[in-house]
Amino acid sequence: MPEPQPVLAPPATAAVFLVVTVAPGGEDTVRDVLTDLPALQRAVGFGAPDDRLTCVAGIGAAVWGRLFQGPRPAGLHPFRELAGERHRAVATPGDVLFHIRSRRMDLCFELARRLCTRLGDSVAVADEVHGFKYYDMRDLLGFVDGTENPVGQAAGAAVFTGAEDPRFAGGSYVMVQKYLHDLDAWEALSTEEQERVIGRTKLGNTELPEGRQPGDSHVALNTVTGPDGEEREVVRDNMPFGSVGEGEFGTYFIGYAREPGVLEEMLENMFLGRAPAAYDRILDFSTAVTGCLFFAPAAGFLDDLPDRPAAPRPAAAADPVPDAPAAGDGSLGIGGLKGAPV
Ligand code: HEM
Repeated sequence: MPEPQPVLAPPATAAVFLVVTVAPGGEDTVRDVLTDLPALQRAVGFGAPDDRLTCVAGIGAAVWGRLFQGPRPAGLHPFRELAGERHRAVATPGDVLFHIRSRRMDLCFELARRLCTRLGDSVAVADEVHGFKYYDMRDLLGFVDGTENPVGQAAGAAVFTGAEDPRFAGGSYVMVQKYLHDLDAWEALSTEEQERVIGRTKLGNTELPEGRQPGDSHVALNTVTGPDGEEREVVRDNMPFGSVGEGEFGTYFIGYAREPGVLEEMLENMFLGRAPAAYDRILDFSTAVTGCLFFAPAAGFLDDLPDRPAAPRPAAAADPVPDAPAAGDGSLGIGGLKGAPV
């Protein structure tokens, strides 16, 4: 398999999630920055190897054909909005994602700053979130987040494309959603009730046993299986974020998968429900305010990008008005109206 981007990065305690849209005419600059990404990352992170600065770039469906000629990743499409009975997974603008992680926020911040300086007005920043790890890897709801992620070879098998799309082997689909929590409502619940919403115990972080696991818990609805009963897995690296002054408390959800369908099935379970559950109860306390899907190609793809698409021909040259229709072609012959039926 071609070398992937650092999707399975070592545990980080800080992250910057930068989502940008590409301005018309900004394509060449964005291509240059994608190719220079490893050099930019080295320039910021090389002097601090223990702090493990990494950056993954993901590219969205709407911009792919503006940046590159040739085939596209088989599963790449825009984020599919979901409107459930009570809750909505919104789709929001986003052409390129930079997922920057480290053990130090200053390194993440510096790389984000250099990226934005290089990108200049070739892009507009659609969303920027600075995330942090909180206590023992807990989210702001107080639960340990990430425990059931696959590790080792299972993680690689869950996230990297392979023979099913050989041209894009070593890539990964990545979904992001920014959630805002209603902490007042959450904290009004007893710990036992919170545990039934998540599906795990709060202090001990163990899964509730069958019989005590509600069908509408977050864990139950995100346990999805394939046709042979095998569990379909993804790798998540959510980060809390917030602002105490503004009363903003959030979880930035990020999930990587070998094909987007598995993330979408989880999302459908959460928002549209899976019988007998109407929806994931975590959504009564968490509102999705963004939603984007990207493909993070293998590292070698960024190093040696496909050619840029041919510039569109000017309209006048692209659609010449026929001077005189060939006799008997059935055309109305608009263009001098020569030969038009009377
Ligand atoms: C599990 C939090 C959104 C997929 C969990 C767990 C927590 C959690 C605390 C249990 C521990 C573990 O990580 O295994 C959150 C929060 C979210 C959120 C606070 C946003 C408000 C999502 C979304 C997806 C997702 C949008 C998928 C599209 C999963 C999966 C598991 C999980 C697959 C593991 C289930 C299992 O096999 O036990 N999440 N999550 N989560 N979550 Fe989320």
